[in-house]
Amino acid sequence: MGFNMRYLELRRKIRDVRMWAIQGIAEAGSGHPGASFSAAEIMGSLYFRRMRHDPKDPGWQERDYFINSKAHSAPGYYSTLAVAGYFPAEELKTLRKLGSRLQGHPVRYSDHQKHHSVPGIEYSGGSEGIGLSVGVGIALASRLDGKKNRVYVLIGDGESNEGQVWEASMAAAKFKLDNLVAVLDRNRIQQDGFTEDIMPLDPAKNKWEAFNWHVIEVDGHRVEQLMDALNKAAQVKDKPVMIIANTIKGNGVRHMANNPQWHGKAPPKKHTPVLLEELESEAIIAPSIIAGEKENYEQKIKKAEREGVEMIHLDVMDGRFVPNTTFFADTIKKLRPLTPLPFDAHLMIERPVDHIQEYIDARCDVITVHAEACTEDEFVQIQGRCLESGISPGIAINPRTDIPDWLLPHLPDLDVIIIMSVNPGFAGQKFMPEVLPKMVAVNKKLRDHGFRGYIEADGGIDATTLQQVYDAGARIFVAGNAVYGNTDIHGAVIHLRHKAEVALERKLLDHATRLSIRTDWMKARKNILIPYASELQIEEELNAIK
Ligand code: DX5
Ligand code: ZN
Repeated sequence: MGFNMRYLELRRKIRDVRMWAIQGIAEAGSGHPGASFSAAEIMGSLYFRRMRHDPKDPGWQERDYFINSKAHSAPGYYSTLAVAGYFPAEELKTLRKLGSRLQGHPVRYSDHQKHHSVPGIEYSGGSEGIGLSVGVGIALASRLDGKKNRVYVLIGDGESNEGQVWEASMAAAKFKLDNLVAVLDRNRIQQDGFTEDIMPLDPAKNKWEAFNWHVIEVDGHRVEQLMDALNKAAQVKDKPVMIIANTIKGNGVRHMANNPQWHGKAPPKKHTPVLLEELESEAIIAPSIIAGEKENYEQKIKKAEREGVEMIHLDVMDGRFVPNTTFFADTIKKLRPLTPLPFDAHLMIERPVDHIQEYIDARCDVITVHAEACTEDEFVQIQGRCLESGISPGIAINPRTDIPDWLLPHLPDLDVIIIMSVNPGFAGQKFMPEVLPKMVAVNKKLRDHGFRGYIEADGGIDATTLQQVYDAGARIFVAGNAVYGNTDIHGAVIHLRHKAEVALERKLLDHATRLSIRTDWMKARKNILIPYASELQIEEELNAIK
């Protein structure tokens, strides 16, 4: 079986992976947060979306194989397997403990090893540089057996110091193993420092190309880029594929990111609740392309992509549900090949149930319809169609609309709720501050009823209001005029992101204060906090910390 996981669900699962991994590491007092976090999106895209595997039948003959050659990323690997359904995630809290199945380095699962391992683990790791050879062996054997399955091997840039990696690379090309995909977790840090100081791997792409591999390079924290690369890899004939995933070691916790100190160090246990809050508090920026100069959608998308935004917000207006007409599914279909960035379609149309299939066929990643435009029955149909197509369903409510009671039973499968902070129809309107208390109340009510998705703030979001809606619980920020109304799009996105970071740091500091670990937290976080000190009004306090 494969997994038809929706974009936002995938993000959420990967967030869960990081949260379980850090809990395990903190409980154990040792382990490798750096590599667990750099590889989280890679393993998540494979296990939750790309690979054919079955947690209920780990030995399934037709399964795709995953060989985790950089085995010290075990906490992240175990968490991925747990979140995928191989064993209960709570077990992560036994990481590295005596008698636990989750030891510091994974052991291949078999009947013989069942007390020292968990189902799903294909390879015993710990000694570096070997996994690719094992992958070559499995890929060759699968071909001889006439099987259609694929072999994925995760390797590290540190372990690529080992000669065996290059012997395996030669062999894979010699045997034209197009059923083998290696992913290089290119985080540029190894045990003792930066890879390029210790043993330079660059130009990594040219090296594998010279070894006759097909090489694709992506941002390894962008699941849409990883998915795109994995799809392309499946089309390559007669060559093994190397996906160079540029990653950041420790990505997800700002003071661990890209810091060699955190290769193999556990955070103090008392920091765990704050770290969990940080991992839960991502910010997704979604520029709305109807804003700014008229149309020119291609260019607007390209510009936003260059600034590293997370999604593209597409406001569909039919001139009936709202007093304006923009574009429909045919336009989205034309824009789709431009970018792998997720498309966040916001349908401001009458009777969305009659048109939903057009937006599914246009390959939107998120489709949100208005609560005012459908009945419960219609919404259930819309949600069902989205779910079966692997699309994230969402619902939007206007400033004066409350959450309808009929929605409550459908929350567990809802990925997004857009809370409008303008009356829909046009970009560039003024934010309605009365929406803030409503957002807080809606957030609470939804969470109480099992909602695990994202609150999306839409309408009049700029640097100032972004902080306010962030504090009220929003994590997806639609920005039309604030991005495209600005002649300096680069600066505009940086400004929005900076404000989300300030809001995050303030929230974490407040949390640390409540736990009576404020000074300790500030000490761990000092270098991160310095650029925000004046906005957070902590300059003196920070200076006093040695
Ligand atoms: C309003 C739309 C919004 C809007 C965003 O009807 O749903 O997405 O255009 O633009 P700004 O950020 O300018 O309000
Ligand atoms: Zn919108």
